[in-house]
Amino acid sequence: MPLPIAELHLHIEGTLEPELAFELAARNGVKLRYADTEELRKAYLFDDLQSFLNLYYELMAVLRTERDFEDLADAYLARAAAQGVRHAEIFFDPQAHIARGVAMGTVVEGLSRALGRSVDRHGVSTQLIMCFLRDEPAESAMATLEAARPYLDRITGIGLDSAEVGHPPAKFREVYEAAARLGLRRVAHAGEEGPPEYITEALDVLGVERIDHGLRCMEDEALVERLVRERVPLTLCPLSNVRLRTVDVLADHPLPAMLDAGLLCTVNSDDPAYFGGYAGDNYDAVRSALGLSEERLRELARNSFLASFLEHDEELRARCLAEVEAYEFG
Ligand code: HPA
Ligand code: ZN
Repeated sequence: MPLPIAELHLHIEGTLEPELAFELAARNGVKLRYADTEELRKAYLFDDLQSFLNLYYELMAVLRTERDFEDLADAYLARAAAQGVRHAEIFFDPQAHIARGVAMGTVVEGLSRALGRSVDRHGVSTQLIMCFLRDEPAESAMATLEAARPYLDRITGIGLDSAEVGHPPAKFREVYEAAARLGLRRVAHAGEEGPPEYITEALDVLGVERIDHGLRCMEDEALVERLVRERVPLTLCPLSNVRLRTVDVLADHPLPAMLDAGLLCTVNSDDPAYFGGYAGDNYDAVRSALGLSEERLRELARNSFLASFLEHDEELRARCLAEVEAYEFG
């Protein structure tokens, strides 16, 4: 039995496996510029975040109907469950779909169908976090928040993703203020490729409760001290960092140093179809590449539930935390 974990950094569009991409392409009459899954997989060699994002946005062309989003989420939940995920806070990128003529309602209703039966079918509790594309104008983010109003009963919070450098968090101050007034939880990607200052800005200007990635905090000692003191969770994605060349090899990942510093780190998969593994694979990878002890792995799993937005189900949080403490490693 795998270690019970919560997944807090997962882009649902990043779970589109090549096989499903071709299946949906055929279903929707969409032509991909790759002959087959093998050729597509060969394109999964990235130099940086942008080179990945180019393919990530391109393949979204196959997602057209509610059923497509339902099938995508259902496939992710099955894989996540098999790797120990008990609770998943799932990002989605509505602007990338609306720009292609796919309505907010199609995306949310489709995802909701899979998420609504996830506890029964997969034993995974779920939440949705709507991300804004930071390389699009703030006005577009605000319009997207407006478009989401009919669906806010299904949306727990907002996030900020896509190309980071040159798009500091403060650009989205007003959108985050509006979201806060609507009672939405707030997170943001910061310090993946962008500088440590973006992490500080996300906390101070956007009022975020967690930092997605946050890896580059390690360049600023005072910031690390602050993150430790304020118990700000970081949702790290080790396999993503290697594939996007934020770290050279997994053995060089700063996760052990971050845990030693007292940071509240969690381990997540980001875009598992593209980066070579789901949440449990990321745990396995850091365990072998970094020689993390069983107690360190238990700490990561514990942190994932502590950092999750499970305030509406403290019973589930307590049950999962108890399972983490009792877990016997194989
Ligand atoms: N970083 C920023 N934006 C993203 C990512 C990521 O790792 N994955 C999907 N959108
Ligand atoms: Zn991400």
